[in-house]
Amino acid sequence: MRSLINITDLTLDEIDELIVTANDIIANPAKYSEKCRGKKLATLFFEPSTRTRLSFEAAMYELGGNVIGFSEASSSSSAKGESVSDTVRTVSCYADIIAMRHPKEGAPLVASMKASVPVINAGDGGHNHPTQTLADLLTISREKGKIGDMTVGFCGDLKFGRTVHSLIVALSRYENIRLVLISPDELRIPEYMKTDVIKKNNMPYAETNDLDEVMSSLDILYMTRVQRERFFNEADYIRLKDSYILTPEKLLTAKSGLSVMHPLPRVNEISTAVDEDPRACYFKQVMNGKFIRMALILKLLEEAAK
Ligand code: CP
Repeated sequence: MRSLINITDLTLDEIDELIVTANDIIANPAKYSEKCRGKKLATLFFEPSTRTRLSFEAAMYELGGNVIGFSEASSSSSAKGESVSDTVRTVSCYADIIAMRHPKEGAPLVASMKASVPVINAGDGGHNHPTQTLADLLTISREKGKIGDMTVGFCGDLKFGRTVHSLIVALSRYENIRLVLISPDELRIPEYMKTDVIKKNNMPYAETNDLDEVMSSLDILYMTRVQRERFFNEADYIRLKDSYILTPEKLLTAKSGLSVMHPLPRVNEISTAVDEDPRACYFKQVMNGKFIRMALILKLLEEAAK
């Protein structure tokens, strides 16, 4: 049974096909409105979410399907001690495909080994968020007309930000991507990301804690929230949370063709005054997330039916 746990579960050709399908859905939504008639998606969210859960649900409704699920662990029998394995074996009896978010790294992988329907990782702890990565890749492709030959700056919490880790893994497979990693020292990208992904794939990269210094070199600026829920110490979070705040003034030295991205939710790291700047792409990412999830649901259900 084909699931999506890590972005590397998809080949580059498959990602390209998903982008093509998502673009076709955007252009011809009516063509897809009955594709999942009679099918059910289960959204099992053991951690809070707005975009991922609701975009999955909107995606399934726009494909003509139905949705069941829960939005917090406390309203499921996991609150009584039920395991992830038993939960997904149960839900496999009711749904054709599962989207799961869980605070424990690896929980969706365990789920995929026990479920009899496809499981999509909708975010596991500080580990992976492959469907956000697909939304990001669709956004880059639509904004730039390509994925490659560009300098991408990641700014903020590069230690705990699962969207950063997933997107860098994905970008490592494209040609000529230069990384600029901008963070406080305490929130630098983990060593394993540098060794196993960035250096292994010979990606040119620089690390700095000064966003102003590198702004003019960037084609994409991917801002991130400091992940309060992953900190052990509230004092450290308070000290680091406002390390970077993007304002219109800070963008004065940026390229006119810069794309400002953010997986959202934001807290303070992008001033709302930036929202009107044509270079702000984060609400386009939100919309693209629904379309690429539609494409993914279609692909996994088609493969499951073979
Ligand atoms: N980007 C993202 O995962 O947002 P949510 O946490 O709201 O789903």
